[in-house]
Amino acid sequence: MTKILITGGAGFIGSNFVRMLSAKGGHELLNLDALTYAGNLENLTELEADPDYHFVRADISKRKAVEGVFADFRPEVVVHFAAESHVDRSVLDATAFVTTNVLGTQVLLDMSRQYDVARFVHVSTDEVYGSLGPTGLFTEESPLQPNSPYSASKTGSDLLVRAAHHTHGFDTVITRCSNNYGPYQFPEKLIPLMIANALEDKSLPVYGDGKNVRDWIYVEDHCEAIARVMTNGKAGEVYNIGGNEERENIWVVKKILEILGKSEEQIEYVKDRPGHDRRYAIDGTKIANELGWTPKHDFESGLKATVEWYLANREWWERVRSGEYREYYEENYGAR
Ligand code: NAD
Ligand code: TYD
Repeated sequence: MTKILITGGAGFIGSNFVRMLSAKGGHELLNLDALTYAGNLENLTELEADPDYHFVRADISKRKAVEGVFADFRPEVVVHFAAESHVDRSVLDATAFVTTNVLGTQVLLDMSRQYDVARFVHVSTDEVYGSLGPTGLFTEESPLQPNSPYSASKTGSDLLVRAAHHTHGFDTVITRCSNNYGPYQFPEKLIPLMIANALEDKSLPVYGDGKNVRDWIYVEDHCEAIARVMTNGKAGEVYNIGGNEERENIWVVKKILEILGKSEEQIEYVKDRPGHDRRYAIDGTKIANELGWTPKHDFESGLKATVEWYLANREWWERVRSGEYREYYEENYGAR
């Protein structure tokens, strides 16, 4: 049994990763999550009775609380997902992004070294590389040129992880992934927002000209890639992870409407996001050649499966949109 501490396991990708590792077996998992607006324990209800899964509510930027968790659990591996993750929120106020993404990551690095963690997996994003023109791909050697407060704070965390390896010889690996989609994504991000709005006959707000390009990856593929890096990645290395599925936003929005049989009249072009990155696209050669990982899901079938999940789990996202999901923690884990 390997003891793995997962931060941010109540969020979108973290909860999919916890579910995947739990299904693989052979691990004792501790999910450390602050339960911000993005954290939802309803993402993991099926694991509550599992003796090899534990949850603790803690804020990664609070050193004392994090130290208590490390002292009790003594993790062998840390997989670090916890972050403020939404670009639009970082445009409005960057404070929590600096506290969680930068300070919180340093606290985790300090505690991981202090408690002899064997490997620290830092889950990062392709957004640290900035924006591409119409051609070219992000490689691990691309310069770090973040444009939003979100991506700047993630870049800060990547550099602190790099420094922990370089200065202290600490075993770290960094993953930089493209845009994820799939079950349990918070309906503020493009795909779940558009699905939910379409189903509620609301307008679908497309920023700018709708021609910004993202490289979409199904969340299960990302989780498999992280697991591969966790077990086989080389210490001190960075691995890009992509879906090889570049699409303009407007293509994605129209496809969702087509799958749902809804009218394109619901689309509303709105004012662009300030500093909106034009294009992201990943060169996944390194992880394919060195670790033998490539994505399994193509975008069209993954998107269809995702739309079906949101149709079948309407209660989940309605409780998120109404705010009722916040009551779940109090009901099941006591008052805050
Ligand atoms: P999310 O917003 O859905 O979940 C983030 C989780 O972190 C939530 O459960 C939240 O409660 C928790 N959290 C936030 N602040 C915390 C704090 N101070 N202490 C403890 N927990 C805290 O995010 P996501 O989309 O699942 O992304 C997870 C990670 O993957 C992030 O690090 C993000 O940068 C990275 N990433 C995301 C994408 C994407 O497309 N969503 C792509 C590449 C990389
Ligand atoms: P998002 O899901 O916020 O991810 P990121 O900005 O981290 O790539 O947005 C994906 C793309 O969709 C991005 O180009 C912004 C655009 N977008 C819209 O056009 N309308 C929206 O309501 C949202 C949330 C995003």
